[in-house]
Amino acid sequence: MSHFLKNALEGYRPYVPGEQPPDGEDWVKLNTNESPLPPSPKVIEAIKAATDESLRLYPSPTAAPARKAIGEHFGLDADQVALGNGADELIEMCFRAFAGAGDRVAYSTPTYPLLDPLCRVHEVVASTHPTAEEWTWSPEFVDDPAPLKFLINPNSPTGTHHGRMTVERVLGRSRGVVVLDEAYVDFAPESQLGLIGKHPNLLILRTMSKSYALAGMRIGFAFGHPELIAALDAVKDSYNLNRLAIVAAMAAINDDEHHRKIVQHVVSERAWLEDQLSEDGFEHSPSAANFAFVKPPRGASAAAVADALRERRVLIRHYDREPIAGWFRITIGTRRQHERLLEALKEIL
Ligand SMILES: Cc1ncc(COP(=O)(O)O)c(C=O)c1O
Repeated sequence: MSHFLKNALEGYRPYVPGEQPPDGEDWVKLNTNESPLPPSPKVIEAIKAATDESLRLYPSPTAAPARKAIGEHFGLDADQVALGNGADELIEMCFRAFAGAGDRVAYSTPTYPLLDPLCRVHEVVASTHPTAEEWTWSPEFVDDPAPLKFLINPNSPTGTHHGRMTVERVLGRSRGVVVLDEAYVDFAPESQLGLIGKHPNLLILRTMSKSYALAGMRIGFAFGHPELIAALDAVKDSYNLNRLAIVAAMAAINDDEHHRKIVQHVVSERAWLEDQLSEDGFEHSPSAANFAFVKPPRGASAAAVADALRERRVLIRHYDREPIAGWFRITIGTRRQHERLLEALKEIL
């Protein structure tokens, strides 16, 4: 890496996104938790209609029309909503706004691997807490008084979902801002949206990358007390959502039927795939997200299996570090993709 990189980044390991093979190639791509179904046709229409000469003008700096539409959809005021270039940008904005150099940022591990590099970049201390039994939050994590704490719920890659009482317990016992990342919540039994308004230290993050099939548009949103939202806005890039993302967000939020269709597909295919893999001897951890978290039968090396799948043009995520060494995260796809995956696994195992 460049010797110009700041000293604080000595030994830095950047976040490595999952492999994106070139468009149009016939891969069974189950490695990055995208939607297996396409976005709403109304979103495509809205993007096409907005692709005109107005693109020479900057977009609304606050993405105001999308904030209003998303707020109305969820029964919130526009000043309780912030928008980001994906939930990733909102996560980064939380670091900018709430954690100074040398501060602690708390999260439970294993979890979303973006948090470690962000701690390095922002020169904060990662206050990490290994999960307790069955990937649950440890008492030390719940009680950590860090000024910024992330709850990834459902978690990636374990798929674990904590219920209302547990989340409220963390909120009550935390001293700083608690960011509840609900990127996968539409596939889970319940969301904690109802806690907005009750806890001034709570921010909830959502994304249109999963259940709205818009990973390529980069749209995330945050809900919280107007003061927390104002703090995020104060540190954001000036025009963080482009014109096409703004119209796409509005069209997507207004097409409930399409959204429901994607969620129902994923939830029922998740059950089917988990059953099939269990029959084939895989261990699985119950997942409330758009992926299955599974471990091959005894004796199989996860890296070797993932490599052999890749040779057959099937991409999944595998892990080689404890406590999840040997586990796979498999994005829920279409039935055809699952059949190809299962056939390939049978050959390999
Ligand atoms: C827990 C979690 N949060 C946030 C994101 C990022 O979402 P976005 O695509 O909106 O940046 C992901 C992406 O996979 C994720 O797993």
